[in-house]
Amino acid sequence: MLQRLEDLRARALEELNKVSNARELEVWRVRYLGKKSDLTQLLRSLATLNLEERRQVGAQANEIKRALESSLEEKNRLLQEAILTYRREARELDVTLPGRPFPIGRLHPTTQILKEICHVFQNMGFEVIEGPDVEWDYYNFEALNIPQHHPARDMFATLWIDAASGEEARLLRTHTSPMQIRLMEKERPPIRVIVPGRVYRYEATDATHESMFYQVEGLAVDKGITLADLKGALLDFCRCVFGEDRKVRFRCDYFPFVEPGVEVAISCLACNGTGCRLCGYSGWIEILGAGMVHPDVLARVDINPKVYSGFAFGMGVERIPMLRYGIEDIRLFYSNDLRFLRQF
Ligand code: FA5
Repeated sequence: MLQRLEDLRARALEELNKVSNARELEVWRVRYLGKKSDLTQLLRSLATLNLEERRQVGAQANEIKRALESSLEEKNRLLQEAILTYRREARELDVTLPGRPFPIGRLHPTTQILKEICHVFQNMGFEVIEGPDVEWDYYNFEALNIPQHHPARDMFATLWIDAASGEEARLLRTHTSPMQIRLMEKERPPIRVIVPGRVYRYEATDATHESMFYQVEGLAVDKGITLADLKGALLDFCRCVFGEDRKVRFRCDYFPFVEPGVEVAISCLACNGTGCRLCGYSGWIEILGAGMVHPDVLARVDINPKVYSGFAFGMGVERIPMLRYGIEDIRLFYSNDLRFLRQF
C-alpha cells in the first residue's frame, strides 16, 4: 500500500511538470485531488485496515495530499506569472495605466461638524458623554423646572410614546438638556461635559427647522462659575468654528431651567448681516440657548446652590454648517441626496 502511494506521488508530479495551461491544470487537479481520485478513494478505504496499517498509511496519504496541494498552488502561481509576462511582452497589458479608483464613503456633514465641536470643547477640558433618545417625562421636563401643564411645555412640541396606564410617560427627547439631570444625579462638581445627540420635535419643517436634528448640550458646574465664564467659553467656541471676525450676539431669553437665560446668535455668513432668506432677513442666526443653571435644578440633584453654580448651553448642530457653507435649507441634510452630501 505504501509503495502504491509513492508511485502515485511520482506519477502525479511527473504529469504536473508537463502541464502548460490552466485547463490542463484543472484536469490534473480533478484526477489527483478530486473527489473520485485514487488518493481520495484510498483515504476513504482506510477504515478497512487494521490499526497499525491505518496509522502508517493514513499518515503517508495525508502527507502526499498536502504535498500535491502545495505543488498545485505553486504551479498555478507560475502559470499566472507566465501569462502576465507574455501579455506584458506582447504589449497587451499597459502597466503604466493609472489604476481604477475604488469608490469610498465619506462622513456625513453632521458627523464632521459634531467631531469638530467636540474637539473644540475637549480642548477646553470638557468630557464627551451621550444619553438615550427615548426619555422619561421626568428628565425631559419635570426635573428641568417644567412640571405638567407648565406653559413652557409648548416651547417643545413633543413626540410622545404610548405609555401603559399608571406608567410614567415616555417621549422622544426634545432637547439634550435631560442629560444635565442624569449626569448631576451621579457626579459631583467639578463637572464639565458636552452631550452630542439627536433630538425630536413634532413640528412642521421649513428651511431652518427639522423634526429630527442634532444638539450639543454643554454643562459646567463648580464653585464660583459666573455668566462671564459662559460668555468666554461660547465666544471662544464661535471664534474657533466661524473665525475671528464673526459677530456674536448675546440676548436675554427664557428657559425654565436657567436663570438668567440667554440666546446666542451669530451674524449671517450668507449675507454678512444685511438680511437674506437664510437668516429670515434679520442678519442674525440663532445657534444656541444658554444660561446659568437654575438653583432649583441644582438643589433637585442634591448640589448645594449656595456653594456651587454652573452654566449650560444647547446648540443646534446643523445650523453651524448651514452658516459656514451658506446652505439654505436644513432639510437637505437628511434627504439622502448624494449630490448634496458628496460636497463635504
Ligand atoms: C433648547 O433646546 C434648550 N434645551 C437649550 C438650552 C440648553 C438652554 C441649556 C439653556 C440651557 P431651543 O429650543 O432654543 O432650546 O433649541 C436650541 C437650539 O437648537 C436652537 O438655538 C437652534 O439652533 C436649534 N433648533 C431648535 N429647533 C430646531 C429645529 N426644529 N430644527 C433645527 N434646529 C433647531
